[in-house]
Amino acid sequence: MAETTPPAAPPAPPASEAPKPKPVVPFSPVILKHIHEPNAHTLEHYLARGGYETARKHVGETDPASLVAIVKDSGLRGRGGAGFPTGMKWGFLAKGTGKPAYLAVNGDESEPGTFKDRHILEKDPHQLLEGVILTCWAIQSNHAFIYLRGEFILGYQRLEAAVKEARAKGFIGEKSFGKDFPLKVTVVRGAGAYICGEETGMLSSIEGGRGYPKIKPPFPAVSGLFKCPTIVNNVETIANVTHIVKNGADWHKQWGTEKSPGYKIFCLAGAVKKPGVYEVPLGITMREFIDVYGGGMVEGRTLKAVIPGGLSAPLLTPEMVDKCTLDYESLAGLGSMLGSGGITVLHDGVDMMSAIYNTMRFYHHESCGQCTPCREGTGWLEKLAHKHHAGHAHAGDTDLLADVAKNMRGRTICVLADAAAMPMQSYLQLFRPEFDKRVAAPEYVEKGRTARDEITPAAKRESVTHGAPGVLDVGMGMDRV
Ligand SMILES: Cc1cc2nc3c(=O)[nH]c(=O)nc-3n(C[C@H](O)[C@H](O)[C@H](O)COP(=O)(O)O)c2cc1C
Ligand code: SF4
Repeated sequence: MAETTPPAAPPAPPASEAPKPKPVVPFSPVILKHIHEPNAHTLEHYLARGGYETARKHVGETDPASLVAIVKDSGLRGRGGAGFPTGMKWGFLAKGTGKPAYLAVNGDESEPGTFKDRHILEKDPHQLLEGVILTCWAIQSNHAFIYLRGEFILGYQRLEAAVKEARAKGFIGEKSFGKDFPLKVTVVRGAGAYICGEETGMLSSIEGGRGYPKIKPPFPAVSGLFKCPTIVNNVETIANVTHIVKNGADWHKQWGTEKSPGYKIFCLAGAVKKPGVYEVPLGITMREFIDVYGGGMVEGRTLKAVIPGGLSAPLLTPEMVDKCTLDYESLAGLGSMLGSGGITVLHDGVDMMSAIYNTMRFYHHESCGQCTPCREGTGWLEKLAHKHHAGHAHAGDTDLLADVAKNMRGRTICVLADAAAMPMQSYLQLFRPEFDKRVAAPEYVEKGRTARDEITPAAKRESVTHGAPGVLDVGMGMDRV
């Protein structure tokens, strides 16, 4: 599945109103460069390509503040979803508290459609570890935690092996690189909960508690793990640190846009000929990404919509895709987000009611339940989406969906509630007629039929999986008519 080498000669850009990309600086994958080579996960392979030389050069030698300055100047933005500037975050770390500072690396990778960190963990974990060492020196932390989702069995085994190898060589331990810099690296496994990817949920889980998010502020940089100052960064973000410190801020900024410098790993799934992970300069057009890297749409299908940044990201229609470049500002300008870089392409045959019902099932299942608007709201969204999916929705149910989604936003401890409401709002905004079609018309009800009887055979088959018409369990007092 993973395909990282860009095609040698990109075909002419598609006839569309695609924005002009910035002048091309040749780019070849950086983080994913070695993942297809056998044994790229071993220390031997990593050392043979100059691995750990950057950490050896800086640990105990370079002023930590100057490493923070390099990362700040590079413009690197967090790759976990929010795109927060990494160097700026490091600068927020509370100092002089008398408490230890921690680094917590987020490898939960729980956003549906996202499968990039997994490749780093499984296929080239030493570059992550070198980034961990450099980051710990920069923020003067003596203990890093790397949190992995429970399902990453191979990634866990490879990362643990890498930590052991690095420890045996003295790169981490009581005296990292023989310098007066003790560094401990602890790998922690989760149990496969989406909410443990939210940074404070992850910290709760590392502490040994339930993965419950906490109210911010205080932010982790002030009071995080064990109530100590903590920097939380994504796996891809920290892997980037290795290359940026090695090559410099200007090297990083030669790609990308002014506000989204550098390159990023994107995951491509859905109705394209070549799904996989691709590392590309930020700012290329979405059309180029889908048509050139992804090989275009699967045979016989046309584009219906794109989920651009993980399941929470609002949809793009083909017209919006034509205007979209892969950078934080372009996606925000189109009312969506770059998020974690998980791009899913939906074809013209996709039943949007099936897609949104499936999406809502996920968020309802993953809500941790602490906040009423999220615990109850995700349940309502799932049940109402189910009613539309099955053709049992009543007049007013579609507006009720919109109302529930609106009232979930900005009212909860973490943004999972928003992450559920945003796709619902976007499906409603862009594909409202498909919802309306599933509202049971009175004539159907009188005849003992439902709108479901009028919809496509494929959608009907889906419905059978989740509950036959007429026996729909709407629960929660939502079957109001
Ligand atoms: C519900 C939810 C799930 C998240 N899942 C992940 C995840 O799996 N991996 C990740 O790095 N960040 C995830 N995040 C974002 C983190 O809270 C945090 O912003 C990120 O780890 C910070 O790292 P960065 O600055 O390097 O992006 C999630 C956020 C939310 C609200
Ligand atoms: S918003 Fe949802 S997932 Fe987040 S803390 Fe509240 S109930 Fe839990």
